[in-house]
Amino acid sequence: MTNMATTTEPPRTADISWDGVDLQALAQKLGTPCHVYSATAIRQRIGALRAALHGMNALVCYAAKANSNVAILQLMTEAGFGADIVSAGEMHRSLRAGIPAQRIVFSGVGKSADEIVEALSAGIARFNVESADELHLLQRLAAERGVTAYAAVRVNPDVDALTHAKISTGKSENKFGVGIDEARRWFAESARLTHVRLDGLHVHIGSQMLDPDPIRMALRRVADFWRELVAAGHAINSIDVGGGLGVCYRAGRDQPIAIEDYVAIIRHALADFRGRILLEPGRWLAAEAGALLTRVIRVKQGRQRRFLVTDAAMTELLRPSLYDAWHEIAPVTLEARPVQTYDIVGPVCETGDTFAVDRELPRCEAGDLLMIRTTGAYGASMASNYNSRPLAAEVLLDRGRYAVVRQRQTFEDMLAGERPVRQWENA
Ligand code: LLP
Repeated sequence: MTNMATTTEPPRTADISWDGVDLQALAQKLGTPCHVYSATAIRQRIGALRAALHGMNALVCYAAKANSNVAILQLMTEAGFGADIVSAGEMHRSLRAGIPAQRIVFSGVGKSADEIVEALSAGIARFNVESADELHLLQRLAAERGVTAYAAVRVNPDVDALTHAKISTGKSENKFGVGIDEARRWFAESARLTHVRLDGLHVHIGSQMLDPDPIRMALRRVADFWRELVAAGHAINSIDVGGGLGVCYRAGRDQPIAIEDYVAIIRHALADFRGRILLEPGRWLAAEAGALLTRVIRVKQGRQRRFLVTDAAMTELLRPSLYDAWHEIAPVTLEARPVQTYDIVGPVCETGDTFAVDRELPRCEAGDLLMIRTTGAYGASMASNYNSRPLAAEVLLDRGRYAVVRQRQTFEDMLAGERPVRQWENA
């Protein structure tokens, strides 16, 4: 055996209760795997963001994709925030959670005609347009309905966000946005758009950004372009700075940009802009407020490696499989135990169904409860039914109380809508 057993640091009390709720008791009651979210932690982030934005003409449009549970969206409603959506599905969730249509912005390279029609009918605030084809479709669909659509050009500033390649969006080789040259032509020809008011700029260069320089650079390019447009006689009423602010997944390694510093970069870049500034944070509001509770099914000693097999899998948390993302994992216990090294894996039939490799953990046994941290964003929202695993429960914790905000899927729920052939039809 390669690893000598040493005793761990005393566990933190955060490992047994969260937002005043006993996690062992909760897991016992509701079963695992189970996503838990601290409402208090989310409200703290909301409060910090609002304080940082003090005095600015700003609207926060929470990126619903980070965690689109209606209970999380409702916290955003209560904060007076809007939503950044990328599908009609996210619009429905946002509206159901009480976010007014007038605070919804619609981003994404693949808005379909049906989705645009739904968004026009709902009366959303703005479309962040990402191609000439989409712009002309928006013009046609708005004209057919006799309404005016407000639009921003999503500018691709060709800046490397210095994050994981799969979540980098602001380089010219990425599918997102259009180059400044193309955006310039759109404005030059905007008088022809009878039913689209092109009066905004939008930029989003990537996610989990920990370095402020690319943000500064992208905003400088957008600000220069805005000044140029104003000089050419165009009215620019809103600048949307996107999301992307990183969080701490790995203590001692990830050093997130402080919210005040992030907002200071925006204030500085857009100091003389008098219109409305939109922000689209997702991860920063939700990630650290969530954890995934899972039980150890068994410890399996392979020929070369020791596996901790948990009842959570890539179906509940895809990030380690998809991006090799690091999530802290800790047993929910106050016992000090000797350390062991494990590969922590789920039950799904894929070698990629691995949460951590060579991870040192207090020694675990079958039945132990673990928490995988920082899963409040891009956890449940990226879930799937792969291997016919029902979707996990989601639970909101709030100062000693809890509410199940998504029931664990039953097998019946999972099969709803699916059926063997009863009758063939002709198209
Ligand atoms: N606005 C737009 C247009 C976006 O595309 C995104 C994220 C956001 C805002 C919010 O970014 P945030 O503040 O959350 O970084 N599944 C990946 C993250 C994909 C992000 C996609 N777009 C992950 O788990 O890391």
